Amino acid sequence: MSKRIAVLVSGGGTNLQALIDAQRRGEIVGGKLTAVISSKPGAYALERAAKAGIPGYVVARKDHPSNQAMTLALVDNLKSLDIDLVVLAGFMVILTQEMVEAFPNAILNVHPALIPSFCGEGFYGLHVHQRALGYGVKVSGATVHFVSEECDGGPIVLQKAVAVEEDDTPETLQRRIMEQAEWVILPQAVSLFCQGRLKVEGRTVRILDA
Ligand code: GAR
Repeated sequence: MSKRIAVLVSGGGTNLQALIDAQRRGEIVGGKLTAVISSKPGAYALERAAKAGIPGYVVARKDHPSNQAMTLALVDNLKSLDIDLVVLAGFMVILTQEMVEAFPNAILNVHPALIPSFCGEGFYGLHVHQRALGYGVKVSGATVHFVSEECDGGPIVLQKAVAVEEDDTPETLQRRIMEQAEWVILPQAVSLFCQGRLKVEGRTVRILDA
């Protein structure tokens, strides 16, 4: 049975686009993009979903009194859509434990740094790259990990390093990390999950042979 994938977004949705393109190329083996849920009503990601014929939904943070209330609304939606895998792709709301309890080892997040560097609360979007450049690192990259109750702390599925260049700005570094790392490893990790090839052993994820 093909796994039903929901992608949660908040903004531009270039990682969603990478998943849509990978699906078109037949690279999401054993899974199907089934729903896109945005925390922001006008997010461009919703247009990408519509263009690809994927149903889009809005569960707005501003319509809920707390992150917990928003999480409960999302869980309801995801369960009623019969979702097997939840992908956080530029999703900017910190979900509470009810999400992890509802989808244990079935939520993937893409983070624009090499975890455990430059991650945790407050590290999102361009802030991550500002902090990496401010620290003077020569290498950064991206991580896809399972979501656990600790922010950015779940078992790591895939990572890819990207060189920092001398004249990088947060914007140029963000773009290079997206192109060279995020848009590559996110579809790979989703496909591995859908093929049942990710085995979580404590903090370690083993990738099983096809
Ligand atoms: C991406 O770089 C993603 O890794 C990051 O936000 C950007 C969203 O771009 N996510 C986080 O910082 C989460 N902590 P997109 O909407 O174009 O995919």
